[in-house]
Amino acid sequence: MKRKIAVLPGDGIGQEIMDGALEVLKAVGDWFGHEFEVEKGFIGGSAVDRFGTPVPPETIKLCKESDAVLLGAVGGPKWEHLPKEIRPEKGLLAIRKEFDLFANLRPVKAFESLLGASPLKREIVEEVDLVIVRELTGGLYFGQPSGRQGKRDEVAVDTLVYEKSEIERIVHKAFKLAQKRKKKLTSVDKANVLETSRMWREVVNEVSGEYPDVEVEHMLVDVAAMKLMYQPKQFDVLVTENMFGDILSDEASMITGSLGMLPSASLRGDSFGLYEPVHGSAPDIAGKGKANPLAMILSVAMMLRHSFGLKEEAEMIEMGVQEVLNAGYRTGDLWTMGRGTVVGTGAMSQLVVERLEAD
Ligand code: NAI
Ligand code: MG
Repeated sequence: MKRKIAVLPGDGIGQEIMDGALEVLKAVGDWFGHEFEVEKGFIGGSAVDRFGTPVPPETIKLCKESDAVLLGAVGGPKWEHLPKEIRPEKGLLAIRKEFDLFANLRPVKAFESLLGASPLKREIVEEVDLVIVRELTGGLYFGQPSGRQGKRDEVAVDTLVYEKSEIERIVHKAFKLAQKRKKKLTSVDKANVLETSRMWREVVNEVSGEYPDVEVEHMLVDVAAMKLMYQPKQFDVLVTENMFGDILSDEASMITGSLGMLPSASLRGDSFGLYEPVHGSAPDIAGKGKANPLAMILSVAMMLRHSFGLKEEAEMIEMGVQEVLNAGYRTGDLWTMGRGTVVGTGAMSQLVVERLEAD
């Protein structure tokens, strides 16, 4: 198979974790005889520094010419004081919108050998296997700040807008995913307070008629946040709006032990997709070679599966990651309880590559 991949490392640890992920991609490609053409582009603060904008037209063009996009992370203190139009995070929002990547899949799976790395009790996290389906191109992050902007010191306004069609398409996506899994869907909202959530709930009920084999429950977001910490096993697929999904997935990362373990796929319905870790650019550890590359590496596996239909190749990476963890290797973000071997970003990636080459 021949495919072109746009690679946008971004800022902070984005650069560091991408290097290892590309080595893993190459190792899998070589093993199975695929030709993965990789071309790098700029996004976020590094694009602002070079082009004066967080997502230059060159980057959009590169993504359009590619079959999938791998992205590291954007942002950092260096760019925090820029006007909001050219903040690095704006680049990420813009690229999601430009390519209509409305469905963000965030799997949360407890690795057996990492159960001790979670701050939660072993019996709570063992065997957790859930997916958060986050709506990615609507809601608060895209609503125009309305009115009163001239009086910024006294009042700030964000708007939360959802069109029915936007809710329908993400809900269909979540139902279809649930059908392929344990056939249980939890829709998370705040319908006791928000109008958009009331519409969300109505849409879920309407659409559920088309998926009679899927069991549906509605849950308020505050309760969902609590249940994720004490009964995460009860969840299979969760579907929710943009900001709730953002927050709940960082929370859910503690089931795996670290934010550095969560990959994600941003999809739109055809084979094109953007794949990135759930975490940000981690300026506190950037440049120190300490970042956990596994979320980025697992995002490569998601790309192979969702955009290229390469299931066996994706599983090979996931098995490789599991074997390295089983062998006791940990980056610093994963609590070792005095056991295991702490390694840096490059060494961790290299260990995964070696597992693949040994197969
Ligand atoms: P963050 O996700 O970058 O970091 C939160 C904490 O988790 C930090 O202590 C960090 O060291 C740790 N962490 C994150 N990823 C890790 C990894 N792979 N290995 C080890 N430790 C890891 O969130 P933070 O610090 O709030 O934001 C930093 C910057 O990233 C901000 O500019 C923010 O806007 C941006 N950001 C970008 C995202 C993206 O590019 N998708 C998502 C979230 C934040
Ligand atoms: Mg986030």
